[in-house]
Amino acid sequence: MTVVINMRDGVDEGKIRVAARFILRGKLVAFPTETVYGLGADALNEKAVKRIFEAKGRPPDNPLIVHISDFDDLRKLAGDIPKEAKLLAERFWPGPLTVVLPKREEVPYTTTGGLDTVAVRMPAHPIALALIKASTPIAAPSANISGKPSPTLAEHVIDDFYGRIDCIIDGGETKIGVESTVIDLSSERPTLLRPGGLPLEEIEKVIGEVEIHPAVRGKLVDVARSPGMKYRHYSPNAQVIVVEGKRENVRAKIAELVEEYRAKGLRVGVMATEEYGADEFFHLGKTEEEVARNLFRALRELDKRGVDVIIAEGIEEKGLGFAVMNRLRKAAGYRIVWA
Ligand code: TXA
Ligand code: MG
Repeated sequence: MTVVINMRDGVDEGKIRVAARFILRGKLVAFPTETVYGLGADALNEKAVKRIFEAKGRPPDNPLIVHISDFDDLRKLAGDIPKEAKLLAERFWPGPLTVVLPKREEVPYTTTGGLDTVAVRMPAHPIALALIKASTPIAAPSANISGKPSPTLAEHVIDDFYGRIDCIIDGGETKIGVESTVIDLSSERPTLLRPGGLPLEEIEKVIGEVEIHPAVRGKLVDVARSPGMKYRHYSPNAQVIVVEGKRENVRAKIAELVEEYRAKGLRVGVMATEEYGADEFFHLGKTEEEVARNLFRALRELDKRGVDVIIAEGIEEKGLGFAVMNRLRKAAGYRIVWA
């Protein structure tokens, strides 16, 4: 049975205690963060963490992020906390930033996918923070079946997990809409493993230049440091195609592709920052922030409307656009049309 707790009007301490009890008893609780919904379990309880992998159908070597509610929790999880981690935590926590550090013995290898490092973040969401405070550090991947778009509404979590996990907290739509930025601080040079809700430009203002792991750009080499990078991601049932290039060319190319696929008898959906004629259309918004917030929802919704093909407009790779394009290209399996 799945208990759905409505907390759309804000934190309710009584309801938080109910959810915290599930966590402390080794059960699974989905909860909102500022980025996407997470599927949480006690990070230090190996059996509980195993259930996350089973529920998601997640390969066991793809490590989880541990969510904390204060900086002291970090000392319990990570052995060596370098200067960069302190600077970034001070500036950006709570917030959409995950740091990878050498793990302490107490953190089970099940949580870290067999790695000697642990990924940690302090989420900027009152429900997430209250839940962690009332229980323990919580391991939580995004609350979607492995390979599907991440959930930005409780409805998405219900679609994927109703009847298969113990509790879902409905906190309404998540604010940022793409997952946290992941930075590896466990080796000599800070390395970006996943662009996300905190723009890289902001991070570099604090710790200087950050190396970008080649897999971020889609090159499938040396995936050992972030095994998550090698798996299929964010894929709806429909085939996604991303159109990138100069704005004026993109518009014409999308219109052309819509006609081409319709002529083949396919139902075509378009997701873009301006209106297009197609069988189904999802407006992503105008700014990078709006596009990030609407991205996963658009993929899920166009799927529900039964399209065969989704044509997505690419945006500029600056700010949140870096995370958006990373997710879109993956969702498309790197099927990119250059306009
Ligand atoms: O915003 C977010 O980060 C959301 C919310 C729920 O907090 N969580 C999330 O988790 O996106 P997940 O599991 O979907 O993505 C975690 C990413 C994966 O790419 C994984 O490979 C990487 O973090 N990761 C986790 N632990 C790692 C480690 N020790 N070393 C390298 N990469 C790690
Ligand atoms: Mg995920």
